[in-house]
Amino acid sequence: MTKPRHFLTLEDLSAKELEEVIQRAIDLKAQHKAGTTDEPFKNQVLGMIFEKSSTRTRVSFEAGMAQLGGSAIFLSSRDTQLGRGEPIEDSARVLSRMVDIVMIRTFEHSIVERFAEYSRVPVMNALTDDYHPCQLLADIQTFVEHRGSPKGKTVAWVGDGNNMCHSYINAAKLCDFKLQIACPEGFDPAPQLIAENSDRVTVTRIPEEAVKNADWVATDVWASMGQEDEKKKRLAAFAGYEVNHKLMSHAKKDAIFMHCLPAHRGEEVSAELLEDENISVVWDEAENRLHAQKALMLFLMGK
Ligand code: CP
Ligand code: NVA
Repeated sequence: MTKPRHFLTLEDLSAKELEEVIQRAIDLKAQHKAGTTDEPFKNQVLGMIFEKSSTRTRVSFEAGMAQLGGSAIFLSSRDTQLGRGEPIEDSARVLSRMVDIVMIRTFEHSIVERFAEYSRVPVMNALTDDYHPCQLLADIQTFVEHRGSPKGKTVAWVGDGNNMCHSYINAAKLCDFKLQIACPEGFDPAPQLIAENSDRVTVTRIPEEAVKNADWVATDVWASMGQEDEKKKRLAAFAGYEVNHKLMSHAKKDAIFMHCLPAHRGEEVSAELLEDENISVVWDEAENRLHAQKALMLFLMGK
């Protein structure tokens, strides 16, 4: 049996494939708005495994599958055998004989890798502790729609060196942009990722330095899912890292702001900036999850 294509990090796509997926996402969005979408996924089923909460990811995958004529099954670890200790390898072999494509949101990245190894069908990472590649598809689509190709641009990441930051590092390589990261000491992205991309990725402790001349500024929550106990400590460590109009004044004049959401106003982003539609494109970014993932699923399923 030929091995299916998986999407566990952005690096599972070549630069050219990524560009094609983004263009397809833009086309699918236009078709959706024109009411001309057809049903390439008729009779096909997406399995959606969630071990963490979600609004956007769940709804965008489920709605996306429905729009293309297929259906989706929501599988929470709270009420499947996964939550009672059935091995991931067994779950992968069983589920992948029943559904046509799977998405997983979980904790350790090795869980999606193990699932993919035993799966007969494509597996998509819908967020792990280490990466959130589906969000980057939407973010790249949003930049392309607002400002054109990200190639050669300067992007700033301000905040935690977390799963989103790691996927931004992958995106820097694939889309050929410069990434200026600002994070407090102790919250750096994985050193190996930095080392592998040292030609285009820099890390500073000074948010103004990271944002300087940026075309695109992004941030995310300071305490990710699973880090709830660290919230107090993190609030203190990230003081001075709020992305607001003052910080944005160091970026290019036409710079745009992104946040994968949910947002925490007054923490990683000011309410005024988040609501400033001249700069903040967060609602387009959220909407694009729908179209970017439809394009991804079509690609992985060879349609
Ligand atoms: N951005 C994102 O993945 O949102 P959800 O956690 O709501 O899915
Ligand atoms: N870094 C955040 C992203 C949420 C979409 C988390 O992992 O909780």
